[in-house]
Amino acid sequence: MNKTYARNSLKMTIDVVRAVRQKIVAVCRKLGIGMCLRTVLLIFCLTFFWVQLHMSDVSDNETIQILAKPDGLLDANDSMLQLVPQRLHKYLVALPQRDRPHQAILPGNASEQVPATVNVTELRKLIDQQNSKQVVFNEDVYGPLQNDSLVIVIQVHTRIMYLRHTIVSLARARGIENALLIFSHDHYDEQINELIQMIDFCKTMQIFYPYSIQTHPDSFPGESPDDCPRDIPKSEAIKRKCINAMHPDQYGHYREAKFTQTKHHWWWKANRVFNELDVVNNYSGPILFLEDDHYVAEDFIYMLKLMEKSCSIVCPQCSILSLGTYLKTYNFYGEAKKDILRVIRRQQIFAAELTPPSWSFKIVPSFSHYDKAEISQWISSKHNMGMAYNRTVWKQIVKCAGTFCKYDDYNWDWSLQGVSNNCLSHEFKVFVLKAPRVFHIGECGVHHKKSCFDMALIAKVQKLLSSVYKYLYPDKLEVTYAPIKKKVLRKGNGGWGDVRDHELCMRMVNHQW
Ligand SMILES: *[C@@H]1O[C@H](CO)[C@@H](O)[C@H](O)[C@H]1NC(C)=O
Ligand SMILES: *[C@@H]1O[C@H](CO)[C@@H](O)[C@H](O)[C@H]1NC(C)=O
Ligand SMILES: *[C@@H]1O[C@H](CO)[C@@H](O)[C@H](O)[C@H]1NC(C)=O
Ligand SMILES: *[C@@H]1O[C@H](CO)[C@@H](O)[C@H](O)[C@H]1NC(C)=O
Ligand SMILES: *[C@@H]1O[C@H](CO)[C@@H](O)[C@H](O)[C@H]1NC(C)=O
Ligand SMILES: *[C@@H]1O[C@H](CO)[C@@H](O)[C@H](O)[C@H]1NC(C)=O
Ligand SMILES: *[C@@H]1O[C@H](CO)[C@@H](O)[C@H](O)[C@H]1NC(C)=O
Repeated sequence: MNKTYARNSLKMTIDVVRAVRQKIVAVCRKLGIGMCLRTVLLIFCLTFFWVQLHMSDVSDNETIQILAKPDGLLDANDSMLQLVPQRLHKYLVALPQRDRPHQAILPGNASEQVPATVNVTELRKLIDQQNSKQVVFNEDVYGPLQNDSLVIVIQVHTRIMYLRHTIVSLARARGIENALLIFSHDHYDEQINELIQMIDFCKTMQIFYPYSIQTHPDSFPGESPDDCPRDIPKSEAIKRKCINAMHPDQYGHYREAKFTQTKHHWWWKANRVFNELDVVNNYSGPILFLEDDHYVAEDFIYMLKLMEKSCSIVCPQCSILSLGTYLKTYNFYGEAKKDILRVIRRQQIFAAELTPPSWSFKIVPSFSHYDKAEISQWISSKHNMGMAYNRTVWKQIVKCAGTFCKYDDYNWDWSLQGVSNNCLSHEFKVFVLKAPRVFHIGECGVHHKKSCFDMALIAKVQKLLSSVYKYLYPDKLEVTYAPIKKKVLRKGNGGWGDVRDHELCMRMVNHQW
């Protein structure tokens, strides 16, 4: 997920820079050097104006201070524990560390470092048992699942430090007592299990992905000694007679287990929840999909209900609800930019302030947007966070299992884009909130070699949410339409060429795993 996001935002940045440069070059050719300099200056000024304009939306002084604070660890008085109510501290502080609370929430001994001395046979047995029991915790307290409850599925890997904060944010959400939280694990970890079993604010359940690398350390779907190394040429692979020699991806690389696992897990989890869990069997409402490094706003359940209601009226063709997009991403309004260039050509400098932005950094959601939602095409890189859809939609996706499972991309969201573009009769439409209610707090998780658990980012999100408190729980949604873009046919990012992956993925449909 992180990888996709980083690549996409990088790509978007490059696209934007390239597009701007091409425009500038084109304008320069037309107008000559002197004019060109003026144009560049003007674009700079317009950008500046726009950022000013945007920042003035941030009507709260405190928020600006939050944004001005450099990332990095917080000072002791600004500590995370002070931002979190006392009753929720138990989720942040690991049991053996209760006497040293700061140690617990600082980076360091995440559960990745648990030694791999587990007995794999035992582990598989344990996972099978737990999966077949389908225990729902706290059902005695909160009662059975109703159609107007909410099912939330959280895909969990190993990053317990983020999961702690995800849980805290869920605990603070209004209406959470009616929800069922399903945690889907691809790594069995006692610490994580303990943490989840501590949850007492709603019903919970744990499911375990049975084809993990952890339970298959030296055979498929993990890595086996007979696998071809990622980077050898096909001819060399054939000579070596390694097992998947005939099936590199479209870029000539062989599979890497740790990258294929995320897509398998996503697919398995959705199949498992919709088709096989007894507790969800009679439930017809939306299911919300989160990850272990998502932080939710207090009103996210309220907003989801509001979206559901409003969607049935304004956009019955929208099949996916999305609680938000990424922060710190580019906004690129192609049409608006043309307007600006037109303005520039006419040299109507003073009209410039009235022109909508041509491009911008989206720093924080503008607070005037807290009651706005947008109807748009579903775009994997923008709308993959906090997605909710119901069984009807899931059935459509499953009908396209072949497309999903054979699409040469190891990212589930790009594969779903493939389904949307190439298999469905109408591509997915999404109903998305303009000011997100789900935040990605694990931004620097995967690619940074160093441990960079970013408490400042988490604190920032918390402070942002408390500073916009009065904008939460809007009475109604104001709906806008995103411009329809041309369908972009993409080849996929590769990493998914191995027929064994295709077959495993297909077997997960209808309980054949
Ligand atoms: C922002 O701060 C200034 C002075 O520091 C104050 O006059 C103004 O009222 C504040 N605005 C808001 C919205 O709090
Ligand atoms: C934290 O706050 C206390 C009292 O509020 C103050 O004495 C102390 O200097 C502060 N420490 C830091 C690191 O800001
Ligand atoms: C991590 O674990 C090691 C050994 O258990 C311990 O010495 C070290 O202090 C721990 N570090 C943190 C940040 O908890
Ligand atoms: C793992 O557990 C099984 C069953 O309890 C046992 O037969 C096997 O020898 C164990 N393997 C290892 C490597 O300890
Ligand atoms: C939910 O609604 C569906 C169809 O409307 C119904 O078949 C099902 O029994 C309901 N389930 C619950 C738990 O109320
Ligand atoms: C689902 O509905 C059926 C028929 O109404 C009922 O027999 C069954 O107990 C329900 N299952 C759950 C988990 O509520
Ligand atoms: C599921 O979602 C689709 C698309 O939003 C909607 O048309 C349909 O009515 C929903 N089904 C149920 C049972 O709520």
